[in-house]
Amino acid sequence: MNEHVTVTDVLQARQPLVMITAYDQLSARIVDAAEADMILVGDSLGMVIQGHTNTLQVTLDEVIYHAKAVTRTKPKAMVIGDLPYLSYHVSRAETVRNAGRLVQEAGVDAVKLEGGRNRLTMVSSLIDAEIPVMGHLGLTPQSVNAFGGFKVQGKTKEAGKVIMEDALRLQDAGIFALVLECVPSELAQEITQSLDIPTIGIGAGPYCAGQVLVFHDLLGMSFGHQPKFVKAYADLGSQAVQALQQFRHEVQTGVFPTLAHSYAAKKPRIKAVE
Ligand code: KIV
Repeated sequence: MNEHVTVTDVLQARQPLVMITAYDQLSARIVDAAEADMILVGDSLGMVIQGHTNTLQVTLDEVIYHAKAVTRTKPKAMVIGDLPYLSYHVSRAETVRNAGRLVQEAGVDAVKLEGGRNRLTMVSSLIDAEIPVMGHLGLTPQSVNAFGGFKVQGKTKEAGKVIMEDALRLQDAGIFALVLECVPSELAQEITQSLDIPTIGIGAGPYCAGQVLVFHDLLGMSFGHQPKFVKAYADLGSQAVQALQQFRHEVQTGVFPTLAHSYAAKKPRIKAVE
């Protein structure tokens, strides 16, 4: 791949694509050092950073704030900014203006939005405005209230057919990649085989063209219930608590700081005359 991963690189990728979320300069630097292809500044920040129970309260200004911190690190990975709830639902003009702010103010390479047939006009408007779009189908978290909770989607033949049709229609509208979230792996496989653009799965099984996970989940830094699709590759949350407990203990018992962690005053060059 090129120095900075582009839409063309994603479309021509020969090996499974890797996308990881990041929300600030630290997470962006870690994700880029791990050589992920894409960094998603996801509206999952509403849950993992802000502590909300879903993503609906995240605003465009907040995504821009976090995306700026990510792009400031000049990662090799392509940076995708998530369009939050209500930033692409009202009108085509407002959608272009909002996505344009993510590109212009935060410097993202592309945007992601959720939904299928009901978002096609917005997708075309963005593509007309030269903004690459990543789609997102299946368990689209911004639909949590409409779905009646975070539930696996596309389980029946009819429901699977709707998602398949939406995937094809989004591809026709011009998206360059499609996130499939929490759908049966058989459906994800069928969709992946039917599309020319890559699918990026999360809870969608092993047959997608790539995978995405949330930074904090991957590193074992999430509190509370973890969905079945999450695999934690480290236990950094517990390690962080242990490290901070050790610091507390050493401060309370006078072990830290020693003189090795302290500064000395300058020694006078001429001895004082008595
Ligand atoms: O917001 C997000 O992080 C996402 C991914 C989980 C796909 O949409």
